[in-house]
Amino acid sequence: MPASSQSLKGRISPMRWLLPIIGFASLSAAIPSPQYSSSTHSHAKRWGDLVQRHSWPAVPKGWKFHSDVPEDYKMTLRIGLKQHRFDALANTLFQISDPSHTRYGAHLSKSQVESLVAPHATSVSIIDDWLRGHGIDLSDSNSVSRSSGGDWITVEVTMPQVEEMLNAKYGVYSYGLDSDSKDASSSNRDYVVRTLAYSLPQAVHDHITVISPTTYFGTWRSMRATSFVDTTEVLADVDQNKLAVVTHDGVDIPVDCITNMTPDCLRRLYNIWYKPQATHLNKLGIVGYLGEFGNRADLQIFYERYMPSALGTSYNTTLVNGGGDDQSKPGREANLDIQYAVSISYPTPNIYYSVGGSPPFIPDSRTVKNTNEPYLEWLHWILALKDEEIPKTITTSYGDDEQTVPYDYQITVCNLFAQLGARGVSILFSSGDVGVGGGDCMTNDGSNKKRFQPGFPGTCPFVTTVGSTTHIPERVVNFSSGGFSNTFPRPSYQDAAVSTYLQAIGGMYSGLYNASGRGVPDIAAQGTRFKVILGGETKAIGGTSASTPVVAAMIALINDYRLANKKPTLGFLNPMLYSENVTRVLNDVTEGSNPGCGTTGFPAREGWDPATGLGTPDFLRLLATLG
Ligand SMILES: *[C@@H]1O[C@H](CO)[C@@H](O)[C@H](O)[C@H]1NC(C)=O
Ligand SMILES: *[C@@H]1O[C@H](CO)[C@@H](O)[C@H](O)[C@H]1NC(C)=O
Ligand SMILES: *[C@@H]1O[C@H](CO)[C@@H](O)[C@H](O)[C@H]1NC(C)=O
Ligand SMILES: *[C@@H]1O[C@H](CO)[C@@H](O)[C@H](O)[C@H]1NC(C)=O
Repeated sequence: MPASSQSLKGRISPMRWLLPIIGFASLSAAIPSPQYSSSTHSHAKRWGDLVQRHSWPAVPKGWKFHSDVPEDYKMTLRIGLKQHRFDALANTLFQISDPSHTRYGAHLSKSQVESLVAPHATSVSIIDDWLRGHGIDLSDSNSVSRSSGGDWITVEVTMPQVEEMLNAKYGVYSYGLDSDSKDASSSNRDYVVRTLAYSLPQAVHDHITVISPTTYFGTWRSMRATSFVDTTEVLADVDQNKLAVVTHDGVDIPVDCITNMTPDCLRRLYNIWYKPQATHLNKLGIVGYLGEFGNRADLQIFYERYMPSALGTSYNTTLVNGGGDDQSKPGREANLDIQYAVSISYPTPNIYYSVGGSPPFIPDSRTVKNTNEPYLEWLHWILALKDEEIPKTITTSYGDDEQTVPYDYQITVCNLFAQLGARGVSILFSSGDVGVGGGDCMTNDGSNKKRFQPGFPGTCPFVTTVGSTTHIPERVVNFSSGGFSNTFPRPSYQDAAVSTYLQAIGGMYSGLYNASGRGVPDIAAQGTRFKVILGGETKAIGGTSASTPVVAAMIALINDYRLANKKPTLGFLNPMLYSENVTRVLNDVTEGSNPGCGTTGFPAREGWDPATGLGTPDFLRLLATLG
């Protein structure tokens, strides 16, 4: 058991290699804590020595306290146990993802990963004792379950139980400006059961990576889709005869592509000329969250207009954690992601994961059931699949301001992405659509300073983050989010590229960003005026959400080639992307910047920049380098 004098540093030692530590206590301020009724408890001494793990100085922006939690409410608590050999997993991941390493491509199996993330027996017994001490029957398989690696335990608890365990005061919180209005339909609002602060006994601190749900208020609504509809008129068709000689390779591209992006435009611009051969092995996954349903009829109209050769084919939908598939409610984000992922990767099979999160919750009727965060739910679900069932390329166009996600939640989710990477999966996320930051860009730690606001999970060093360009020749589109993490230090694979940029800009924006943080995005692609069919109508939709499925589909095609040639999939992409052989073949984007927070944002320049990353992909050149 750890000494009680151990510093906060030691308490999050599982991720030590990754993170030189933000003290949880430093985020805390004067939140009145409920009384801990330890006197009635037999294990009072051992479990009564509570140390605060996290607190918010105020209710997170956009949320309001709604009501007390119904007393008969039961909560599913997910407890992440310290992963005994996570350092070894991370080291392995970097080796197998580095093209110059002898282990390149030697991905791990599910059981190999699970042996590295398994908790130490001491951690298991301490957590078990703690739970038993609170009256939890660990042999009851209806209310207690463990992940196959043993690194997660899920328990059903009552409100009094969890409030005593964590010295927390849970409440029902609602999101949105209308949360006071009695007649607003409850289905348009988000309700979550959360606490503003929680503590853990000194004896268990070191053995736990995260407990959920606690202080993370983000939901599918605040994990907002990074896309928007451009209201200017959509051209009926791209006029193939109006050509402009504009690409990097001198390929003719219809000038209409600049204002009306289609799969054909993207193919010409990025040299995507390839016929998949391993469609029996390869798959592309698209993750969408509650309320975003892909529409199969819209896809047929899209094919009819832009890719008649694919007519009659579709994608499969898999429902996760109570996600839906309502064909009468086509989702803007889902349709954008699906229409571009399936058409660029065609005929590679695509799977749309419709992930439920906080279900519609009627606060008065005591029907709250599952209020867990959807990211964790999806990650647990996908990691439990067999190796051959997991698509080797996965794209997600959702994100949240990094500062709104509690520190240990960020670390834990990021480390789960590392597990997927080690199993040979490429994970792509949008960087966000707010330039260097949206709104007033004030910090939420109580200090109220202006600071650039990067987006999580894009800031996780184990995912590949995609920004946006516009126009031909390409330049930064002003919404393309980018910057530097305040949580994750700069990983070695981008050290040279990011240092070069920082040197070039000198003292610009000093104090507004964290020069030692992971830089995002890694790569970019076109992101404006994509033609999308939504409810039968043609819309022009833009966002880093548009760029991400395009890059993901290109990666899926390279995986196809590799699988067809009996090679391992690309897996975690970043060490490869930043390698010299690959940066050489990307299209560097050097014009424009990404304004936000009252500034003009980071300027693009030669090499990597925090607006378009390393640049945009050229498929045939990438294939020649990586195939
Ligand atoms: C880079 O490309 C060169 C020339 O094709 C090749 O010899 C070398 O092995 C490549 N380096 C890596 C790390 O793949
Ligand atoms: C969809 O699922 C069916 C049944 O499992 C399978 O036969 C088909 O190949 C899948 N299609 C795609 C596009 O994944
Ligand atoms: C970005 O560009 C668009 C279109 O040119 C413009 O309407 C918008 O105001 C710009 N945004 C910022 C933050 O400069
Ligand atoms: C800057 O990032 C590092 C991680 O790279 C972190 O430890 C540090 O706390 C951050 N500083 C601020 C002011 O957020």
